[in-house]
Amino acid sequence: MGRYTVVVTGASGSVYGLRVLEQLLMKGHEVVAIMTEAGRDVTAYEIGFDLPAENGAQSLLRFLELRSDMPLRVACAGDSFDPIASGSHRVDGMIVVPASMGFCASVAAGMAANLPERAADVMLKERKPLVFVPRETPLSLVHLRNLTTLAEAGAVIVPAMPAFYQRPETIDDQVNFVAGKVLDVLGIEHELFQRWGD
Ligand SMILES: Cc1cc2nc3c(=O)[nH]c(=O)nc-3n(C[C@H](O)[C@H](O)[C@H](O)COP(=O)(O)O)c2cc1C
Repeated sequence: MGRYTVVVTGASGSVYGLRVLEQLLMKGHEVVAIMTEAGRDVTAYEIGFDLPAENGAQSLLRFLELRSDMPLRVACAGDSFDPIASGSHRVDGMIVVPASMGFCASVAAGMAANLPERAADVMLKERKPLVFVPRETPLSLVHLRNLTTLAEAGAVIVPAMPAFYQRPETIDDQVNFVAGKVLDVLGIEHELFQRWGD
């Protein structure tokens, strides 16, 4: 099974991040989750989950109604000694979901100023799968240029753009569509939406 890093930043749409994380765990993968400070605040505001400083993984598993023995670890954004800060540590993919414009800018500029930025920098230099799910509208030229830089460096950009050809009936359907597109990019099987033509 794979090892994935999921970063939830302070863009709107924390629900996408938690859905991706939940699906990875349910498929048997190991997950290291990180919330930026803004990511924690926006998640608490939007969906009512407030990541505690201690026992974050247990708390998150409880919130997601997942088994307490699932392989989830919550890393601290300020911990530059975490294994995922090194290219020698095996990680199969990293997803920044939702990705704020600020976070995209930092990674595009190679800042590596905290653990999630460094972990993204490592994925790029090691040529490993790195997915950004940006959420902003409208996009400025600065945003577009940063996203282009990330794509040129090897990242995949999967904007949080739910489709309507699936005829979604609930918000959950729309969340599942975006989360499913992320899993598609990583080659992970899922049943989050019905495929066109199936
Ligand atoms: C409720 C709320 C919603 C936000 N939504 C977005 C958004 O959709 N996209 C974005 O780029 N920034 C958004 N922001 C601003 C970011 O949270 C802010 O730029 C923050 O500094 C990002 O930090 P981070 O990249 O370390 O998580 C939002 C802020 C708040 C309070």
